[in-house]
Amino acid sequence: MTAGASAPLTYCGSFPGRKACMRPKVAVIGAGHVGATTAQRILETELADVTLIDLIEGLPQGKALDMMQSAPILGCDAIVTGSNDVADVEGADVVIITAGLARKPGMSRDDLLAKNAGIIAELSRAVRDNAPDAIIIMVTNPLDVMTAVAHHETGFARERVMGMAGVLDSARLRCFIAMELGCSVKEVSAMVLGGHGDSMVPLPRYCTVGGIALPQLLPAERIEQLVERTRSGGAEIGRLLKTASAYYAPAASAAAMAASILRDQKQILPVCTLLQGEYGIKDVFVGVPVRLGRKGVEDVIELDLTDEESAALAVSAEHVRESMNKVGL
Ligand code: 2OP
Repeated sequence: MTAGASAPLTYCGSFPGRKACMRPKVAVIGAGHVGATTAQRILETELADVTLIDLIEGLPQGKALDMMQSAPILGCDAIVTGSNDVADVEGADVVIITAGLARKPGMSRDDLLAKNAGIIAELSRAVRDNAPDAIIIMVTNPLDVMTAVAHHETGFARERVMGMAGVLDSARLRCFIAMELGCSVKEVSAMVLGGHGDSMVPLPRYCTVGGIALPQLLPAERIEQLVERTRSGGAEIGRLLKTASAYYAPAASAAAMAASILRDQKQILPVCTLLQGEYGIKDVFVGVPVRLGRKGVEDVIELDLTDEESAALAVSAEHVRESMNKVGL
């Protein structure tokens, strides 16, 4: 266990027992607010050791070292290291991709789409080459299309390439329902389908509070207001923060998905996955409930939808398909 006095004092990661460690490995690409907060959550729950990767020299190393210094206080033994080399995804069980550009003033959605598609394509090829058995969780926006890009570039089976959005969108709806009813968030479950954007499809019929269907607890107009607030949940936070977008809830969502995978919890969660005929939709990545376990997306669950809900999901999927076409998919 003891390193000789001649061994260099590296910034972090000089743990002689490290190689024998049985903890899984999560690589988080992108050390901005979302990536770093995801790494922190994974460290604090001792879910896995984390390699935090970013192009900016010193950024992932500095954040990793800072997190490691919080570990003695929190009492967690997982290890976070920082790297500027994407090849360090090597050996990762799960790769969470948060890297990419945020939309800047003057930049159209299509400009952002093209730029981030290029970045994600390059990163995905690095994951394919260095972590060929990994499961990818995409967080970069526009989420559904970036998941499609990663799937296309890696050639991984659909089970192993998914996007984080439904967990976030349904958490926002759960939060608003709990705030409205003045009850514990733990009592509230919610389901939001579709793409991550204006056309997402919250399903009040599938929201429950202590097992009671939401429409029995709130008038339809009030539910619609909560649904609208959920749809613009990211924008509301962006307006408040001014120079950043949300990161606590997105990071908690990505970490929860990683936990369901690595601990084989088999949670039923809304996840962006490739539909191959389910819900009457084919070859599009869109959010639907899945069983998430050690193999990734182990099952797609087909809910019974009304005509109106089905139509809304189809519209949402078409929006994603149009954007996929714009990047040649
Ligand atoms: C969010 O919804 C920006 O996708 C991000 O918070």
